[in-house]
Amino acid sequence: MPATSVPEFSRPVPEMERFMSGVFEATHPLIACHLTRLRDRSTQAAEFRCLASRLASLLAYEALQDLRTETVAVETPLAWTEGRKLAQRVGLVPILRAGLGMVEPVLELIPQAEVYHLGLYRDEATAKPVKYYSKLPDERPVDVALVVDPMLATGGSAVAAMTTLHEWGVPQVKLLAIIASEEGCKVVESEFPEAQIYVCQIDPDLNDKKFIVPGLGDAGDRIFNTVRE
Ligand code: PRP
Repeated sequence: MPATSVPEFSRPVPEMERFMSGVFEATHPLIACHLTRLRDRSTQAAEFRCLASRLASLLAYEALQDLRTETVAVETPLAWTEGRKLAQRVGLVPILRAGLGMVEPVLELIPQAEVYHLGLYRDEATAKPVKYYSKLPDERPVDVALVVDPMLATGGSAVAAMTTLHEWGVPQVKLLAIIASEEGCKVVESEFPEAQIYVCQIDPDLNDKKFIVPGLGDAGDRIFNTVRE
């Protein structure tokens, strides 16, 4: 598509826009620029990983603004003062495989997060999620779970992940996706109206193979360099 001339301007808007009641779409210019490179079919795996990582950091920063903290005393080299420490246990839940590309940047922000992997793949014929790995403990659910997966297409994988976390007893679930379809957001929101979904951009369509359009292709294949042309 040829580049079109769009006037440059900056808007005094909040960084996330509420798309539906629990769905937030980023409006930050850096997110828009990194996402454009991520979408580009000529972007190779090394740069794709780097961009996905940056976008995950920026999304997590937005999504975690309501984390609860508590007062703590800290002794600086000069005096005692008051500071804050996290008052909630945070679980980071990557959906394998592609979600692995979002783990390290979020752990950089919350080093004490507990990581629980969920293995789900989408059956190519039915587009339904197939669960192949889950090892959540039986008890002591985390206070907040951050599900990370670059793509939310039909919403089937996200609903399956959230169902598993609900069964574990997690009281608050946030889903971080780099790209999502409108349809997928609606499916997740109707199943889990209390969940919060943070997305860099919401695309309008799914094609007949249930791929997000315009989208960015298959994030897992592009992160792990297994694209078959
Ligand atoms: C992709 C993506 C999501 C899922 C989204 O994974 O990373 O997990 O599909 O589709 P849905 O919303 O329709 O369920 P994929 O099945 O390609 O597995 P991968 O991460 O191993 O590449």
